[in-house]
Amino acid sequence: AIDIKTLRATSGLITLDPGYKNTGSCSSAITFLDGEKGILRYRGYSIEELAVKADFLEVAYLLIFGELPNKEQLERFHTDIKHESHVDEEMKKILDGFPKSAHPMGVLSSLTSGLIAFNPSSVDVRSEEAMYNAIIRIMAKFPVLVAWTMRKQQGLPLDYGDDNLGYVENLHKMMFKRPNKEYKLNKVVIDALDQLLILHADHEQNCSTSTVRITGSSHAGLFVSLSAGISALWGPLHGGANQAVLEMLEAIHADGGDTDKYMAKAKDKDDPFRLMGFGHRVYKNFDPRARIIKKAADEVLNDLGITDPILDIAKGLEKVALEDPYFVDRKLYPNVDFYSGIIYRALGIPVEMFTVMFAMGRLPGWIAQWREMRMNKEPIGRPRQLYVGENSRTFVPLKKR
Ligand code: ACO
Repeated sequence: AIDIKTLRATSGLITLDPGYKNTGSCSSAITFLDGEKGILRYRGYSIEELAVKADFLEVAYLLIFGELPNKEQLERFHTDIKHESHVDEEMKKILDGFPKSAHPMGVLSSLTSGLIAFNPSSVDVRSEEAMYNAIIRIMAKFPVLVAWTMRKQQGLPLDYGDDNLGYVENLHKMMFKRPNKEYKLNKVVIDALDQLLILHADHEQNCSTSTVRITGSSHAGLFVSLSAGISALWGPLHGGANQAVLEMLEAIHADGGDTDKYMAKAKDKDDPFRLMGFGHRVYKNFDPRARIIKKAADEVLNDLGITDPILDIAKGLEKVALEDPYFVDRKLYPNVDFYSGIIYRALGIPVEMFTVMFAMGRLPGWIAQWREMRMNKEPIGRPRQLYVGENSRTFVPLKKR
């Protein structure tokens, strides 16, 4: 619904559009999204095609630089990344300072902004070369930070990557390698992870991406702009939804698995409970990513031979919601987070790490959007407001109040 007003403020006309539901903040050539028709394209390529034909690193290159890489370009991109994958040893001390109970998103956001202290040349990106180097550095170091964040939480020794592996294989190995145990690559797992990362790689001007662009518009560096984006992604109405979905499914399971009870709660306007993983700000018919990921979830669970009561509850909710007039009338369909949490769980990723995995996938999108904003020489982001507070007042001294 259009809820947009142009209002006269003391300083002229102000367009008031809470939540920016109908307000564009930039023009962009990166991601096309049609919420009514359920279309998502990166640089003109459909998400359905990219999810099965490309790998995450190719998609990252496509998003950031605008074209699919040829073989040499992809190899150079990957080699450059491998050369920059070392994270300064001192960063381990920062990580050490966090309690084990710290939420991984807070840790990841801190480490990402902390990186700048060890790579100060990544702030000034006025030359093309400096911009490329900053992008390569963060593409290289971010998977290490993601893996460290999980290992810290699990009390495991910190590790570096294996240059012989592909980008996603390396990420997985850094996360899952255990001391004194042989690590075995599982293609089904790697393919599912690759696909999940691709599906999360960009989604135009959502909350975290807008945060990255607006932070970067002050010419704050790439790493701190990404750190701001990670913080924005953390919230349960955005990236935190995949964690919230799993927690909701677990709560329903612990409460006897009565999905009807929770459906009723979701529809009750006096109850703050919302069915997590349902509804989307822009997809008002279906989320195309949810379709792809639903198939991937089925495949992973079949291949790994997993039966999961939590998944049965998810399927029950999905079935009821697709038929319930409350959900149908409001066009509330399962979104990508509804299924991604299920796959992450099957892959052995702890619940608190789900949003970190989302951040890992979104990294190239954030970088692409930040780069576009800088290359377009966009002005500093500075929204206006409609002032509704007190008019001019005379100061009252403390003893007279
Ligand atoms: N459960 C129950 N009712 C819902 C839900 C839900 N999950 N989502 C929306 N509604 C209802 C609202 O109460 C409202 O009803 P009303 O018209 O009777 O007042 C109507 O549907 C429209 O909802 P809005 O909140 O106006 O929709 P909006 O576009 O602002 O919000 C949002 C979208 C935030 C995603 C919302 O659907 C929601 O909270 N969903 C659950 C959280 C979630 O899954 N978030 C993930 C988003 S995807 C992502 O970040 C990748």
